[in-house]
Amino acid sequence: MITLQKGTKDILQDEAYIWQELENKACEVFSKANYKEIRTPIFEATELFQRGVGDSTDIVNKEMYTFKQNDKSITLRPENTAGVVRAYIEHGMQRLSPPVKLFYHGPMFRYERPQAGRQRQFHQVGVELFGVSEPTADAEVIMLAIEYLNSIGLNDLTLEINSLGCPKCREEFRNKLKEAIRPNLENFCEDCKFRFEKNPLRILDCKNPECQKYLSEDNIKNIINNDFICDECKEHFEVLKSYLDTLGIKYNVNKLLVRGLDYYSRTVFEIKSNSLGSQNAVCGGGRYDKLIENLGGVYTPAVGFAMGMERLISLLPQKNSPKLDVYIISNNMTEAIKLAQELRKSNISTDFDLQNKKFSKQLEKAIKIGAKYAIILGEDEIKENKVTVKNLEAKTQETIDRSSILSSII
Ligand code: HAM
Repeated sequence: MITLQKGTKDILQDEAYIWQELENKACEVFSKANYKEIRTPIFEATELFQRGVGDSTDIVNKEMYTFKQNDKSITLRPENTAGVVRAYIEHGMQRLSPPVKLFYHGPMFRYERPQAGRQRQFHQVGVELFGVSEPTADAEVIMLAIEYLNSIGLNDLTLEINSLGCPKCREEFRNKLKEAIRPNLENFCEDCKFRFEKNPLRILDCKNPECQKYLSEDNIKNIINNDFICDECKEHFEVLKSYLDTLGIKYNVNKLLVRGLDYYSRTVFEIKSNSLGSQNAVCGGGRYDKLIENLGGVYTPAVGFAMGMERLISLLPQKNSPKLDVYIISNNMTEAIKLAQELRKSNISTDFDLQNKKFSKQLEKAIKIGAKYAIILGEDEIKENKVTVKNLEAKTQETIDRSSILSSII
């Protein structure tokens, strides 16, 4: 038997409706804030992610599904910000009056070690806002993330924010951090040794306990806690915090929050759940003012987020899929199919037996699938132009004129 690939999952018929609900809610909540949906391809040129996500990241170094076709290197998208930025540049969206507000949902691919909350094919819902450098944009995007989470019933979450500063002030921080780490570099994990050269800030969120031990030493803690960011970046962060206060959005400033993608500057944020295990981030995002230029566009400030849909679903209470309204029971297939057509046209979900099985079998089926009503069209009923409506929930039944079916059920 050919089976599922490790780290992938079939979304079966009894679960798919929850996905539809989350996708519909995303459309509803984001449209209300004037965001428009964008659908970009699932594969892109590998170079887009190398230059976009960054070649010092785990995603680009270890986790990409890359293949060659006609000598072109192609990669299944590990995230969607780079693809949306490519589309933004390619379709000249910088000519539109800012802000350009986009949202998306769909599958992403990362070759990671699968565990609870971590898959190789997973799904994200996200937004990207282009053209505004002011912290109002950061606040709006965070507000929207929280609004979406609340709209699907998730409230018990923690928002963490940080500012990574701009490339200028970050340089000084990087250098100071490197100086402080260098004497103990031998004791850090192999990943951190690599990060030390490529992107030392990423060492701050290494989960390895040995690295954490060295990071908690006073000299390193002092550097982390000593606000390294320049006055403009500080002001930007302060104003963002004041907006969040105004909106009543609670947050923790986490100075170790650096995010796993290279494109961020200034604001970064994550929303975490207290009831998930180690993979507890349901949402990650931030500002990426340099990415559009780095990918060949004109300077355009931008900010956005993405949420892992599997993680959202794992936090929602189990629900049964919606019940069928009507199951028609009849041995007259012509009458049954005609009635099914009529009811479906009136938005009543309806099914019937396609194989003309025995009455008793059809009734068993109606009960088994949990239909709300069984409509019986026996020979007598057809002759008299009547139907018997059985309310399977209340366990009552009545025989009525065929013409009053709709009013009886609605
Ligand atoms: P990210 O933090 O890599 O950010 O991913 C965002 C969210 O996707 C995570 O918080 C998590 O919920 C989910 N996620 C990531 N990897 C997996 C996985 N292997 N299995 C299940 N869920 C996963 C980004 O992707 C950025 N593009 C977000 C962004 C948009 N920043 C600015 N705009």
